[in-house]
Amino acid sequence: MSKSKKFLITAALPYANGALHFGHIAGCYLPADCFARFARQRGDEVLFLSGSDEFGVAITLAAELAGRTPQEQVDHFHKINSDLFAKLGISFDLFSRTTWEGHVQTTQEFFLDLQKNGHIEEKVTEQLYSEKEQRFLADRYVIGSCPKCGFEEARGDECPKCGGNFEATDLKNPKSKMSNAPLILKETKHWFLRFDHFREKLSHFISEKNWKPNVKNFALSYVEELRERAITRDSTWGVPLPIEGTEDKVFYVWFDAPIGYISIAREWAKKTGKSWQDFWCDEKTTLVNFVGKDNIPFHAIFFPAMIMGQNQPYNLVGDLPANEFLNLEGKQFSKSSGWYIDMQEFLQHFTADQLRYCLAANAPETQDSEFTLKDFQMRVNAELVGKFGNFANRTLVFVHKRCEGKIPPQNKLEEIDLKFLADIEKHSSEIAFSYEGYHLRKASQQIMELAALGNVYFDAKKPWATAKDPATFPDTETTLHNCLICLRALSEASAPIIPEAAAKLMKMLTTDDVLPQSEILFQKVEPEQLLTFAEKLS
Ligand code: 2FM
Ligand code: ZN
Repeated sequence: MSKSKKFLITAALPYANGALHFGHIAGCYLPADCFARFARQRGDEVLFLSGSDEFGVAITLAAELAGRTPQEQVDHFHKINSDLFAKLGISFDLFSRTTWEGHVQTTQEFFLDLQKNGHIEEKVTEQLYSEKEQRFLADRYVIGSCPKCGFEEARGDECPKCGGNFEATDLKNPKSKMSNAPLILKETKHWFLRFDHFREKLSHFISEKNWKPNVKNFALSYVEELRERAITRDSTWGVPLPIEGTEDKVFYVWFDAPIGYISIAREWAKKTGKSWQDFWCDEKTTLVNFVGKDNIPFHAIFFPAMIMGQNQPYNLVGDLPANEFLNLEGKQFSKSSGWYIDMQEFLQHFTADQLRYCLAANAPETQDSEFTLKDFQMRVNAELVGKFGNFANRTLVFVHKRCEGKIPPQNKLEEIDLKFLADIEKHSSEIAFSYEGYHLRKASQQIMELAALGNVYFDAKKPWATAKDPATFPDTETTLHNCLICLRALSEASAPIIPEAAAKLMKMLTTDDVLPQSEILFQKVEPEQLLTFAEKLS
């Protein structure tokens, strides 16, 4: 990884069309937050941004089905997701939205530059049109008979029966999903981005990247297939085109959404008086895009090509930590089939740190992984409470009991003490290395190993026995002093993952004279607390 001290960190803009689930958090937002917290702690300059992705057909369709306007729909879910992020302690510098007014200008600037530079083409195509509703209908608004197997309720883009993929215009007897009215083909003009112009430049760009092999290989094979792609569609919900007479057309959501990373930075600058160019246009900044694997093409290919084809000196993606998916008890999360855990409700029973730790420990970094209630209980009880909390508690209780709450001196160091101190250093730098490489799973494991080391040392040094004899009391002091060093290291190392507990611990370790009374860092998870969640999944 680059040694750059400036990071622009983004987390994929979540659609404001549903509540986020654990999978989104484990795959994207938590890894991004832990990296941002780690970098800030190390003293790097960090700008960490995201926001709701609020345009697109999925939103207008869901809004219509829910009897809301698109604006009401996105307002509703923007609030739900913003609150969830706040509860989870995701430390965005700004979590905004693409309906922010400044987003239009930034998106249009991209388009105009791309057009000026010869990368945009206009074409008239035939699309499905509803005479009854007086509008063109996008894929998701269309049903009809599958051109492959004849199934009568195929969707506009795929058939649920045979799994076939096709264009909505290939459907037989196409009808409007909303009104059932028959559809006709009608000519409409659209704007296309010539992605094929960027094949060579992109291949060269991606080849040089030090991304995970699957991310890089996927991106490289995708580049070869690059063709022109429509960037506009017939709709009124989206960023309008800067062209007269196109009032019924907007940009596709995949085109405007990544530009949101720039417009949100501009908004952040406006709010704080700081410079957004310092992050977007300074080549010393590393741009790190955290995404789920389904978003790889947009961040590895489409958005970089869009940047290459316009005229501002925006940074291209540096690192692309793309994760796999997290499943729930063996199956994919699915709100519509009831296979999910309501995160709001979960956070009423458990702390953000408990959940963050469990999701970090199971982060789907190299393959799909799993969240289970049993694992959650085990991680909290055996690891957070049993190892980390126990070591903090026994050390601090002892310091209060035997040393009047004062940090005892470090007296003579024997081999066992020197080894322990060296191990703390070694573990701390290994944990930092894991964070740097976006290996959250490994970092959480190493944190527990460090806590376990502390417990082993405490047991081996038997401070309760040495404290009884004045001749060995100096060794008790040394033991406790070293345990406090380990606790400080644990607090620092764990702060990106469990920020609340780490801050609480640091407070208990900080004093001019007497340490504050120690408090419990983590609560145990009792089996009955999980019952309501388990019942819903049975
Ligand atoms: O997959 C999604 O949730 C998209 N809303 C992500 C967009 S990320 C970026 F392109 F803005
Ligand atoms: Zn079919």
